[in-house]
Amino acid sequence: MKNSTTKQLLASCVAIIAIAISQNANAQNAAQNANDKKAQELVSKMTREEKLQMLMGYFSTTAEWLKSTAPKNGMPNSAGYIEGISRLGIPAQSQTDAGVGVATQRSPNPRGRSALPSGIALAATFNDEIAFKGGAMIGSEARLSGFNVMLAGGANLLREPRNGRNFEYTGEDPLLAGNIAGNAIKGIQSNHVISTLKHYALNDQETNRFTIDVKIDEQAARQSDLLAFEIANEIGNPGSVMCSYNRVNGDYACENDWLLNQVLKKEWGYKGYVMSDWGATHSTIPAANRGLDQQSGYPFDKSPYFAGALDEAVNNNHVSEARLDDMVYRIIYAMSENGLFENPLNGDQSDKIDYAANGKITQAAAEEGIVLLKNERNLLPIAKNVKNIIIIGGHADKGVLSGGGSSQVYPVGGMAVPNEGPSEFPGPMVFYPSSPMKELQKLTKAQITYYDGKDLSKAAELAKKADLAIVFGNQWTGESVDVTNLNLQNNADALIDKVASNNANTIVVLQTGGPIIMPWLDKVGAVLEAWYPGSSGGAAIARVLSGEVNPSGALPASFVQSVDQLPRPKLGGDEVGIAVNNPSQLKGRVSVDYNIEGAAVGYKWLDKTNQKPLFPFGYGLSYSNFEMSNLMVKANQSKVSVSFSVKNTSKIDGKAIAQIYAAPINGGWEAPKRLVGYKKLLVNKSQKQNAMIEINPKTLAVYDTNLHKWVIKGGLYDISLSKSSAQPVQTIRVKLDDIILN
Ligand code: BGC
Repeated sequence: MKNSTTKQLLASCVAIIAIAISQNANAQNAAQNANDKKAQELVSKMTREEKLQMLMGYFSTTAEWLKSTAPKNGMPNSAGYIEGISRLGIPAQSQTDAGVGVATQRSPNPRGRSALPSGIALAATFNDEIAFKGGAMIGSEARLSGFNVMLAGGANLLREPRNGRNFEYTGEDPLLAGNIAGNAIKGIQSNHVISTLKHYALNDQETNRFTIDVKIDEQAARQSDLLAFEIANEIGNPGSVMCSYNRVNGDYACENDWLLNQVLKKEWGYKGYVMSDWGATHSTIPAANRGLDQQSGYPFDKSPYFAGALDEAVNNNHVSEARLDDMVYRIIYAMSENGLFENPLNGDQSDKIDYAANGKITQAAAEEGIVLLKNERNLLPIAKNVKNIIIIGGHADKGVLSGGGSSQVYPVGGMAVPNEGPSEFPGPMVFYPSSPMKELQKLTKAQITYYDGKDLSKAAELAKKADLAIVFGNQWTGESVDVTNLNLQNNADALIDKVASNNANTIVVLQTGGPIIMPWLDKVGAVLEAWYPGSSGGAAIARVLSGEVNPSGALPASFVQSVDQLPRPKLGGDEVGIAVNNPSQLKGRVSVDYNIEGAAVGYKWLDKTNQKPLFPFGYGLSYSNFEMSNLMVKANQSKVSVSFSVKNTSKIDGKAIAQIYAAPINGGWEAPKRLVGYKKLLVNKSQKQNAMIEINPKTLAVYDTNLHKWVIKGGLYDISLSKSSAQPVQTIRVKLDDIILN
């Protein structure tokens, strides 16, 4: 009796869930149909002139060097503006950079806003929810600042650790990068603000970015960079995709039929619009026919290709009327899908921004993204009996570092350190006024003093007298220039070496755009990678140092021992021997061969070539100790799930990142293994937790270039529960069937 009641109950639960799922799907379809209808109707009512108006974006900044005058209704010193069509109730598109918050173009009076930690720091949280919340926060500031399009969602893979924009992106692994970028996009768009996904695609270095031709085979591209975009697109459903500056296999990314028409629009079924990066449109007819829907940021381009010239191209039937309508349709569809019609902007409402509340969100993200790389003798958290601490270098008395270029968010309350870094783009070097030193002073009774570290002998003297020395090592990076080496800047490597030689209790706090090398590693007691920690970064760093926060970040990119371990020890396409961004210095058009590593990016390359990095992908310590066990794998066609448990064997609560790697025992992938899942778990002291992860089937598949489908190859696979890419804890061998994914 009891049994049959339970069965009945179960059956009705299943039925209710099925109804809920189908209702959800019905609601989604209805919404899609409504957006589709609205877009079709509006397009049908538009004149040619109105259509063309939707397709041309203007730089919304008056800049002498570019001879640009900001459109009169655009938000000043912002990235772009496209006037609305009031006759039809179509709102203007007001565009702001970028991924960590509301940026300002170079100007004497930049708007101050909250800044998230850098994209790579968000990825280091291994926490999709944090990415969503961060996106939601910056999206809300965008709306209140008068913007309904945010040029965020950077998902280029960290293929080149010297890339000056790694800080804007989400690491070297397609699953992690796609999940984090996708969730951030979803968060931004929860404010009725369109987000981009950018820079599509393979824009993995800045050197010669405007012209470089990236050579890569289709399968390698699909299983690496394009997979990150595919996942981010599925999760985030961005209203727009920004095509990049570089060329891919010969054609510019913004007139690349394969990238835009075949992969993005046809295969992924993308319904939004493609906008060009600022200065990335090079033609009218090829660009329009090969998939570009909107030209951006004029006059960055040589010509207003999508204005009069497009009109003429349509008149002459070089671009069909249907394609013109499709371009406009896509923009209106995305605007409708994201609620831009029902939620009009109301100019600058920034006085309504709750900076205190937003500060907590960015601080929580920074705290989860800080990675503890080394902790000898439990030097951290700082012991209660430490009497005096010397903090050296990096302006840690004043603030924290951020990355430069168009994504630059300026702080509320002004810059903590004026006149640093280059005066020209991608400068200035901006420090947010969140001082690690002052924040640490609030959390410890120790006496704390600061020295700028300029004189190494003086630094050594001061270090000798202190119980603890904390050295801040910075690497500032910015858009348009790659770094020439992986060393810290401002003589910080020598400074750390000197301090550590004089005090064994030396802790290094790094603020870097991406991976660096650490020639001093053996000498120091502890290392924290804080990336660019955002506008509340000082508090985040201090709380990790003091133990208020238990570190829980992990590396979203491998830290190599030296550039010799990379697929390209010398930067690809660097024909003139320096990281240049000036096409006039080039003797010809250059290319870079990404087929060397293909899809084996980062840890995959290191695994494949049997090299041991300085710190592996996925690595990060905690003040707690975790035991992972009980791995079980269930495979039913393409649905593969794993379950396991994590026990906190220490006396402090902490967060663990369980990572799942898969390896086909007979090979056939780009590298021995891939990350196929991860989960961040809060496990209280002495507690044990069970968890489950559903594997994204594409991470188990290879891309079949004949079928144009993802295919799981039947056979045996080792599935490992791991603490990092180099620390498997338990492995199970499973058999997977041959499956073609939809
Ligand atoms: C960058 C984009 C940015 C655009 C607008 C370009 O230089 O590559 O990421 O969104 O400028 O500022």
